[in-house]
Amino acid sequence: MSNNQDFVQWFRGAAPYIKAHRKKTFVILISDDVIQCDRFIGLIHDIALLNHLGIKLVLLHGSRHKIDQHLASHNITTEFNQNIRISDADSLPFIIQAINEVKTHLESQLSMGLPNTPMSGSEISLVSGNFVTGMPLGIIDGIDMQHSGKVRSIKHQVINDLLDANHVVLMSNIGYSRTGEVFNLPAEELATETAKALGADKLVFIQLNHANSEQADTLTTVECRTLIQQSETPEYLKELLQKAINAIQSNVSRVHIIDQQVDGGLLLELFTRDGYGTMITNMFYEGIRDANIDDVGGILRLIEPLEANGALVERSREQLELEIADFHVIDKDGTIIACVACIPEAEHDIAEIACLAVHDDYQGSGFGKQLLQVAEHAALEQNIHRLYILTTRTSHWFIENGFVETSISTLPESKQALYNMDRRSKIMLKQI
Ligand SMILES: CC(C)(COP(=O)(O)OP(=O)(O)OC[C@H]1O[C@@H](n2cnc3c(N)ncnc32)[C@H](O)[C@@H]1OP(=O)(O)O)[C@@H](O)C(=O)NCCC(=O)NCCS
Repeated sequence: MSNNQDFVQWFRGAAPYIKAHRKKTFVILISDDVIQCDRFIGLIHDIALLNHLGIKLVLLHGSRHKIDQHLASHNITTEFNQNIRISDADSLPFIIQAINEVKTHLESQLSMGLPNTPMSGSEISLVSGNFVTGMPLGIIDGIDMQHSGKVRSIKHQVINDLLDANHVVLMSNIGYSRTGEVFNLPAEELATETAKALGADKLVFIQLNHANSEQADTLTTVECRTLIQQSETPEYLKELLQKAINAIQSNVSRVHIIDQQVDGGLLLELFTRDGYGTMITNMFYEGIRDANIDDVGGILRLIEPLEANGALVERSREQLELEIADFHVIDKDGTIIACVACIPEAEHDIAEIACLAVHDDYQGSGFGKQLLQVAEHAALEQNIHRLYILTTRTSHWFIENGFVETSISTLPESKQALYNMDRRSKIMLKQI
């Protein structure tokens, strides 16, 4: 394929994203080690480009590395509690100095005319101010966190007005109390609270050197919760995933974690189908919902052929009516095309995944996986951390979705007594 054709393909591929992102609000947190790295200038060009494409931008910066450097050069050590720096009276002036230095550098880079670059001649109107009211973190585990604070409120209306007037809003990880005190705020929390207060479309964390090649490209909040519970997940990632869940639960549509190892990573993530970083979303197929009594007929129609060929155990209408509150369905224009039940045995910290079925016409589109995630979510909400399923033909599908084969003794005794020896189902277990 010639270069011209590559370009045409590429431009057509990006067009839907250009259209979709216009007039949307993105909150972008740039870690300060990114600001100090060689590839930062490329990121500045990309931010200018987003601004010129009509995206409303709120930029925030972290300062942790710069603060470390400043404190070290003055032989000042600070303690950490729960991974948060205790900003005491001695260190606070140096912390403020470091934060201002990062901010000034960022402002200067964003104020360049970008000569000899694709964005030559473009100007960004950057505005910063006292948008954040902070308050003390207080005493945590008996330790006074002093000038380390948390977000009390964000002047979202002021910020929105500035964004509407095509200004780029710049925020530092600092907040002022109503009594005039200064607080060092965790940048990730500030970015999350800002995205929530603005009802942002995207919250983007740009980091350096945190690439995890095994990381999936897209994670649902349920998968994030699973990762947070796994000991091998790095602590920084657990914190970001927790923030991502928090933001998404407050209606931020998507959260992205991008490693600035590659020049243009932000553009790849935002304007290509495959993306580049990790995207976190709550987005299940829009027709997934809890079942209700009116769905019994539709579920029976869906599962009857599967019962007839032995893939599913038979369920009477009466049993289905009794269990309907445990069912979730996918409803496509009034037809039930898939279902699953998550039947809890809360006293044994276990739930049965039952009656998982996707209509023939819709198999292979990820609906089975999404329903399993919905069932996992339902179990977690009931504080249940183990799922089991009895299956005769689908054990491999469950293995691919995190289950392992186990013995009958894993089941609660009441279920062991009901186990049908003739059917010889495999018992699969998943820890969530
Ligand atoms: C099992 C079932 C729920 C999966 O639903 P789905 O929406 O097709 O699943 P997904 O789209 O999430 O996953 C599809 C993948 O699973 C694979 N898969 C489907 N059935 C499988 C099976 N029995 N064993 C192993 N892999 C299977 C597909 O080949 C596909 O893999 P690919 O993406 O590599 O091509 C669906 O096939 C079904 O309803 N089966 C009949 C009922 C049943 O057996 N239920 C389980 C009761 S224990």
